[in-house]
Amino acid sequence: MRAESMPQAGMSCPLAAPSPLLLCYNRRTMSDCYYLDTMGCQMNERDSETIAGLLESLGLHRTESMTDAKVVVLNTCAVREKPEHKVFSKLGDVRKLKQQRPDMVVVVAGCVAQIAHEEIRRRAPFVDVIVGPRNLSGLTEAIRRSTRPAQILANEDEVIPEALAVCRVPGVAAFVNVSYGCNNFCAYCIVPYARGREQSRAPEAVLGEVKQAVADGYREITLLGQNVNSYQGLDETDFASLLRLVAEVPGLARLRFTTSHPKDLSERLLDTMAELGPLCEHLHLPIQAGDDEVLHRMGRGYTYSHYKSLVEAARSRMPGLAITTDVMVGFPGETEEQFLNTLRAFEEIRYDQAFMFKYSDRPGTRAALATDKVPEAVKQDRLERLVAVQNTISHDINEALVGRDFEVLVEGPDPKSPGKLRGRTRTNKLMIFEAADEDLRGKLVTVRAERGYLWGFTGRLPD
Ligand code: 5AD
Ligand code: SF4
Repeated sequence: MRAESMPQAGMSCPLAAPSPLLLCYNRRTMSDCYYLDTMGCQMNERDSETIAGLLESLGLHRTESMTDAKVVVLNTCAVREKPEHKVFSKLGDVRKLKQQRPDMVVVVAGCVAQIAHEEIRRRAPFVDVIVGPRNLSGLTEAIRRSTRPAQILANEDEVIPEALAVCRVPGVAAFVNVSYGCNNFCAYCIVPYARGREQSRAPEAVLGEVKQAVADGYREITLLGQNVNSYQGLDETDFASLLRLVAEVPGLARLRFTTSHPKDLSERLLDTMAELGPLCEHLHLPIQAGDDEVLHRMGRGYTYSHYKSLVEAARSRMPGLAITTDVMVGFPGETEEQFLNTLRAFEEIRYDQAFMFKYSDRPGTRAALATDKVPEAVKQDRLERLVAVQNTISHDINEALVGRDFEVLVEGPDPKSPGKLRGRTRTNKLMIFEAADEDLRGKLVTVRAERGYLWGFTGRLPD
């Protein structure tokens, strides 16, 4: 399914200006404000910018304090059990506030809203609106009506319209969706149930949003999709062709994308990445497991040797490429030997960074039905062993890069190091550095790495 309507207008909003949050405290009354709590992934961060845009279109302004808010929105994550539990504990806090201020409107949005709307209505009857990720176009109307029991907007396959407002988080980098949803149904994953079937946006809609973000001052764009490699726009535009179109947008300094599924990553895409100037030398390629039997049972559609050949093909085209990954330990039935294959894969590939998780049961998925679950203590032990190996690798890779010069896109002062600035390298590593001129925000500067850490570098501007 595709969205075929015209580019979105990209409404401007006060959050695009520096220090906008003060607006709320200085000039607005409590009843004008909304509180928005975003959990989970980059998709949710981008969805929250739509939620913010829609709430601003109602004349509301953001507050960072829930107590001040007329409308409270929790944008939730369901990818693992823990974040889902967090939603219900946060709703406990909201309940107390709502008892004091019954006129407050409570909205639960995101993936938990989609997959657990009945449970939310039952366990948190004070919630006014429950809205899934595909149904945000109905949010403002539902807030205006605000009736009890909660209105549920949870059609997982609704086509997302292009005309939704956006109020971006201020900064130098912006997210733009190329697609919504996922068709892969990996055995462990709740995403296809929470975000519905894949819907590619029309290329001109993506381009229109990128142009608007660049015009608003953003220098770096990350294109988002659950599986960008299966993007299929109008006129047979595939993801590589889309990248070409976006990379030509005047004023765009850097282009990134996430997430690539290894089963659909083509040599053509790697060639395109290597060729396009703004395309950064960073590839996020979730491996999930390094054992073929586990990969098969996960329904991932590739073997470890295929995955490794992709890594080699990418590295041979892009010197200095950083590769990051997602991985899971303790998938049902995973033996010690199979885990050791994952550990070995990490030693062979040497990722720059990895997001490492213990398998978590998601009701409704195929893996949740398995009878050979791995005990919690074993999962914890495997995770700790994998993290220890990966931490050493990340640290060693960054140490070996000390003395090199990196192009850094400056984000602004580093909140944790007074007098220092922070930014990211093209390889998406954090660089904290000293600079006399504080006015480098949004600029590309060359910084020499002086020390390497797990998380990136400290450095200085070369003389
Ligand atoms: N348990 C643990 N981790 C999961 N992920 C997805 N589903 C689960 C699950 N049920 C991880 C995958 C995915 C990342 C976003 O979250 O590694 O790539
Ligand atoms: Fe989940 Fe697999 Fe889709 Fe990624 S590709 S969102 S892991 S089902």
